[in-house]
Amino acid sequence: RSSLPVISQAEVAKHRSLKDGVWVTYKGGVYNITEFVAMHPGGDKIMLAAGGSLEPFWTLYAVHNQDHVLEMLSLYKIGEL
Ligand code: HEM
Repeated sequence: RSSLPVISQAEVAKHRSLKDGVWVTYKGGVYNITEFVAMHPGGDKIMLAAGGSLEPFWTLYAVHNQDHVLEMLSLYKIGEL
């Protein structure tokens, strides 16, 4: 199912601003969430995860532990770590 490219952690880390694009990782997937940032119900906090992993933040904010949130995230998948 994955014809998506493998993307390194170093490449993800280069994408941490709206200008360069905002990429995050979650459970081995890489996501380009640039277009989602402005729509995030939790506001600018989402930028704390830019260029890195969502897990530590989603552990803290359990509101993300719902199917509809994961479905939303899946729309933005661009690769695998
Ligand atoms: C709320 C998505 C990253 C903090 C939400 C909600 C969604 C969402 C859908 C509303 C959930 C509901 O009420 O049912 C996402 C996605 C993210 C992301 C797709 C990454 C791609 C983050 C990060 C943080 C964060 C990294 C914190 C550092 C929050 C907070 C709320 C929230 C505090 C609650 C807002 C409120 O109800 O007042 N997020 N989120 N989110 N998010 Fe995120």
